[in-house]
Amino acid sequence: MADLVLPAINIYAAAHSLPESPVRRALREETDRTMEFSRMLVGPLEGAFLHMMTRLAQATRVLEIGMCTGYSALCFAEALPEHGRVITCEVDEESAAVARRFFTQSPHGCKIEIRMGSALETMAGLKGPFDLVFIDADKLNYLHYYRRALELLSPRGVILIDNVLWDGEVLCDPPLDDRTAAIQELNRVVTADPCVTAVLATIRDGIWIITRTPSSL
Ligand SMILES: C[S@@+](CC[C@H](N)C(=O)[O-])C[C@H]1O[C@@H](n2cnc3c(N)ncnc32)[C@H](O)[C@@H]1O
Repeated sequence: MADLVLPAINIYAAAHSLPESPVRRALREETDRTMEFSRMLVGPLEGAFLHMMTRLAQATRVLEIGMCTGYSALCFAEALPEHGRVITCEVDEESAAVARRFFTQSPHGCKIEIRMGSALETMAGLKGPFDLVFIDADKLNYLHYYRRALELLSPRGVILIDNVLWDGEVLCDPPLDDRTAAIQELNRVVTADPCVTAVLATIRDGIWIITRTPSSL
C-alpha cells in the first residue's frame, strides 16, 4: 500500500492517539511475522479512529465485513459497553483461527461473534439494526455491501468503508483494473446519494464516514 500521508506524520498522529491494547499489538506483530497480508490490517491509527467512532455512535451492535486476523474487530469490541456485540464476517479459515486465538486472550473477545462464509450471504440473513457497519472486504462487492448496510443500519447509525482512495488509484481515468473501477463507482454512488451525508476522510487509505441525512429519517 502506498503512503498517502507522510509516514512520519502517521507515526506522530498514532503516538498522540489512543494507544493500542497489548492484545492488539501482539496480534498485529504475529500477523506481520507469519502472514503475507499484514498490511491489510487497519493498524494503530485507524484502529484508534474506529474505537472513537464506536464511542461517538454510542454503538451497542457493530457489523464488520472482512475480519482477517481480527485487529479491527478488537478495536470495536474494546470500545463497546459490556453488553455490546460485534458480528464479523470472514471467508478465510486460517485468518479466523488466528483471530479466535487472540480473542480468547482479550477481556473483550467474548463480545465478538465470527460468521464464516460469503459476507453477502451472511448479510442477507442478518436482522438489523446495527449502530455501526464497517466494510473492509473484497472491493468488487463494495457497492452491494453498502446497499445492504443501509438496510441494516439504525436511524442514527454510521457506515465506515475502508480503502476508498485505493492507494490514490481512484484518480486514474480510465481505471487500472476492476477493483479500482468498483471503488470509483461506489464513491460516485455515495457522493450522489441524497439519503446520506458523507465525508471521505484521508486517514490511511481513505475511509468513508456515512450517516443518514436527517431529512431522510
Ligand atoms: C482487508 S482484510 C480485513 C482487515 C480487518 N478489517 C482488519 O483491519 O483487522 C479483508 C478480509 O476480507 C476477507 N474477505 C474477502 N472476501 C470476503 C467475502 N466475500 N466474505 C467475507 N470475507 C471476505 C478476506 O479473507 C480478508 O481477510
